[in-house]
Amino acid sequence: TLDEAGLNLADVAAEARRRLEPAHWDFFAGGAGGERTVRANEAAYTRRWVVPRVLRGTGERDLRICLLGEPVSMPVLVAPTAFHRLAHPDGEVATARAAAEAGTVMVVSMAATRGVEEIAAAGGRLWFQLYPQPDLEFTAAVVRRAEAAGCRALVVTVDSPVFGRRERDLRHGFVDLPPGLACENMRDTDGRVRTIEMDAGLGWERIAWLRGITSLPILLKGVLHPADARLAVAHGVDGLLVSNHGGRQLDGALATLDALPGIVAAVGGRLPVLVDGGVRRGTDVLVALALGATAVLVGRPVLWGLAVGGAAGVRHVLDLLRADLDRALALAGAARPADLGPDLVAGPDLVAG
Ligand code: FNR
Repeated sequence: TLDEAGLNLADVAAEARRRLEPAHWDFFAGGAGGERTVRANEAAYTRRWVVPRVLRGTGERDLRICLLGEPVSMPVLVAPTAFHRLAHPDGEVATARAAAEAGTVMVVSMAATRGVEEIAAAGGRLWFQLYPQPDLEFTAAVVRRAEAAGCRALVVTVDSPVFGRRERDLRHGFVDLPPGLACENMRDTDGRVRTIEMDAGLGWERIAWLRGITSLPILLKGVLHPADARLAVAHGVDGLLVSNHGGRQLDGALATLDALPGIVAAVGGRLPVLVDGGVRRGTDVLVALALGATAVLVGRPVLWGLAVGGAAGVRHVLDLLRADLDRALALAGAARPADLGPDLVAGPDLVAG
């Protein structure tokens, strides 16, 4: 059963590794270069310690948050990841079903192997992740397609002016999807599937252009520098996602938890700040929220759940994180995410109180 497959996300990952083809495991697990940043994301959480409060009479916990004006059942969302059909034949449809059951948001990758309409039919709240394409007309068509499917926000990935160099993929010769699978959201009007292009010319004017073509909230994914956070505020975006793409783009980039406090300070409460990368435990979620994140996203753990048990496997991963966060809140003396503050975290350069 799924419970046997995992008491925690590391167990689920180990079971996924047994089931996946090595090239596919490495595509999901790997990162750029020497994978320093992949490791740093998880390691950053191990350097923070919770300083719990006691005798707070917190009673039942309430994990709900409000994001972009809408309620979400917990501060854990599904990050956009490519190629879900490599993990399970149902692909992104299964992931969407699990996210819907868990009452949380799934961010659909532009590199999804199911069409956004099909994913939306699974129910639940979707945001759409966009790699702005050099072809503006095509980019606009993708945005209209996401809107028509009912996506509630655009998550614009800005950390990928070029592709990261992933040595595991090079060793396997893994360059493309196997026959029969395609990036379904890259289909042209004639049904031809376009290749996703990274745009090294991407600048702030493209964010302004996107702002002009859609009324959906726009979040920027991949911001690590406080100066960019201030520019994002100035450009009228609706949220930031502190991310280094799970260490898959710039190896050597700062761990996201280490970047978070600087971004939170730069934004000064004007926008929600989300964070992803290396979140594997309820205490990780607690620490990120205490340091100012409104919510976290999980990438690889969702893929492990999908590989192990399709929608039920993803549900298992989300349920584990929910239960773990609930317990961590209770043990730290907090009833809800809003009760968390930086005084509850000690670690490098951080002193409780
Ligand atoms: C990703 N990520 C990603 N991001 C994005 O904006 N568009 C995408 O298509 C993908 N694809 C993708 C595939 C795979 C296999 C992985 C592991 C990641 C990055 C993702 O959204 C997120 O930033 C990280 O995965 C978060 O780190 P963790 O939770 O995987 O440690």
